[in-house]
Amino acid sequence: MSEVYDVPARVREGSPNPMTTMDGYRAAYAASMDDPGGFWLRETKQRLQWMREPTQGLEGNFHEIADGPVRWFGDGELNVTESCLDRHLLDRGDKVAILWEGDEPGDVRRITYRDLHREVCQAAHALRELGVKKGERVIIYMGMVPEAAVAMLACARLGAIHSVVFGGFSADALRDRVRDCRAQIVITQDEGLRGGRPIPLKETTDHALVGEDSVEKVLVLKRTGADVGWVEGRDVWWHDAVASAPDSLDAVPCAAEDPLFILYTSGSTGRPKGVLHTCGGYLTWTSYTHQNVFDVREDDVYACVADVGWITGHSYIVYGPLCNGATTVMFESTPMYPDPGRYWDMVERLGITVFYTAPTAIRALAAHGDEPVRRHDLSSLRVLGTVGEPINPDAWIWYHEVVGNGRCTIVDTWWQTETGGHMITPIAPATPTKPGSATLPVPGVLPLLLDEKDRIIRGPGQGRLCIDMPWPGMARTVWGDHERYVSVYFSLFPGRYFTGDGCRRDKDGYYWITGRVDDVLNVSGHRMGTAEFEASLVSVEAVAEAGVVGFPHPIKGQGVYAYIVLQPGYEPGDDIETLMNQQIRKEIGAHARVDLFQFVPGLPKTRSGKVMRRILRKVAEGQPEALGDTSTLADPSVVQAIIDGAKSL
Ligand code: WT7
Repeated sequence: MSEVYDVPARVREGSPNPMTTMDGYRAAYAASMDDPGGFWLRETKQRLQWMREPTQGLEGNFHEIADGPVRWFGDGELNVTESCLDRHLLDRGDKVAILWEGDEPGDVRRITYRDLHREVCQAAHALRELGVKKGERVIIYMGMVPEAAVAMLACARLGAIHSVVFGGFSADALRDRVRDCRAQIVITQDEGLRGGRPIPLKETTDHALVGEDSVEKVLVLKRTGADVGWVEGRDVWWHDAVASAPDSLDAVPCAAEDPLFILYTSGSTGRPKGVLHTCGGYLTWTSYTHQNVFDVREDDVYACVADVGWITGHSYIVYGPLCNGATTVMFESTPMYPDPGRYWDMVERLGITVFYTAPTAIRALAAHGDEPVRRHDLSSLRVLGTVGEPINPDAWIWYHEVVGNGRCTIVDTWWQTETGGHMITPIAPATPTKPGSATLPVPGVLPLLLDEKDRIIRGPGQGRLCIDMPWPGMARTVWGDHERYVSVYFSLFPGRYFTGDGCRRDKDGYYWITGRVDDVLNVSGHRMGTAEFEASLVSVEAVAEAGVVGFPHPIKGQGVYAYIVLQPGYEPGDDIETLMNQQIRKEIGAHARVDLFQFVPGLPKTRSGKVMRRILRKVAEGQPEALGDTSTLADPSVVQAIIDGAKSL
């Protein structure tokens, strides 16, 4: 039994949005199911500025996905920046669009819609001068500076396709992404700044680009003024190219289904894949969900403290909020700098009303106690959001009681890079919440649970979560590899989108995400493939074989557990562990590391040589008694060695 939290009256009061009651939600949901095409056509015409209004809703379906992507608003034409910028100039020209808080507390920049429009036009001019045309790929490898959003929008203005690479990724990871999309330009900065520490973005870019012939220009923003290497003829300073450029530029018309961006994400096998989102459907989805889920109002100060390098930053720092004419906070620092009161200091100073973060941050802050929260006046807060991983009820309740002072509602938003925006989540003013549940599907989303025999579960039950019908915000394909898209998402259950997540539905129809059921790890809300870790580990000379799984971690949600078989002649030891983590840092990035290593004589394999990952998982989770049948193993003795040598934090 879990407690139900009704929406506090002060949260519902005065909401200008359409779904303020459960009846309102149910009516919208039913309408979206009755006539999806009509429902979303009406929404998109109200929300977006179209150059040519669409008359077509949905074309295509999941059964024919191998023949080509589904299409939404297929005959429409638009440029997303007109919805995000131009049309706000009349009513909101002087409204703050981006409220930037730098690494040092109180280092604030207020960028109005008018400023932002001008800067985006100037940056678009600069990119055009550097050769960027519609359809070209631009990699953005930056920290949390306003210019990162300007760069994204400048690409969109030209119809160019941006691909933001999170600033924590290594040179190897950046190079892979540059190569995969054959980027023409990289936009970066001299250094990033986070928690008082510089991040050598330009230097890493230089390493990544050695020998990459597709990249013609590197545009460099000066953030810290550090000395950086310079390649004459290739490198261009942002302030030289952008500041003097003309301050208006006609937005390039795009078809609704033209690509807007590529974002690389990890799967259960192989290299990260370039998830592709398109213009019309994506912006409709992010605008709709941002407005309704957070119940955003004209005077809100809305803060999503994610990084633009992830989908959360794309959808809920940049595109959704700007399309809705909101004031969106961009935060350069970390929750711990200079101390664990940083978020709350910022909430108080900036008057933040809607605050959106990840469970891992909530747990890390809760571990510091209530005092850093209580010493601040957080009465401006109305809606608190979480995203990225399941939130445990303890952390949920701390967020609700201590941060929200029992006066706010919590929206636990389940979604994915591939879904473009929220899928299962409370609607802030309407949905009663339960700690740990993402609650109910957004209108337009048809979830389906399948049991271990692939049968559809009706009513309460637990299984694998699929989505049974296209929605406007869904990723259309994997860049350059539609077959991979079909095989990853639509082959396990033909005709359905498989999310990779397990999920339970309770008697009230509420959904409880139980975590990934594939070989994807979710560490501090960062998604990483076990296969990427394993590939990196076996590239260390001393390592013969590696098996990587997740285990429950009190702060990170999941930690990384690696079973290592050494090459003959090597002895286990700390030095080898250090080497292995260095290799992972080099190949993936600073955010990736193994928490626990266990050296084993061999991996548990079937007679056909397949690693039985279930065994690795159970031991790492501290449940060796739940191993199940091990009789099909080639060498059952390794199991005992694995159990005997199990590590824990
Ligand atoms: C995976 C997607 C969505 C933006 C950030 C992560 C997990 C995400 C929740 C939630 C339980 C969640 C899922 C999902 N996840 N939100 N509210 N409750 N799990 O995007 O890197 O594409 O990861 O994050 O496992 O599949 P992503």
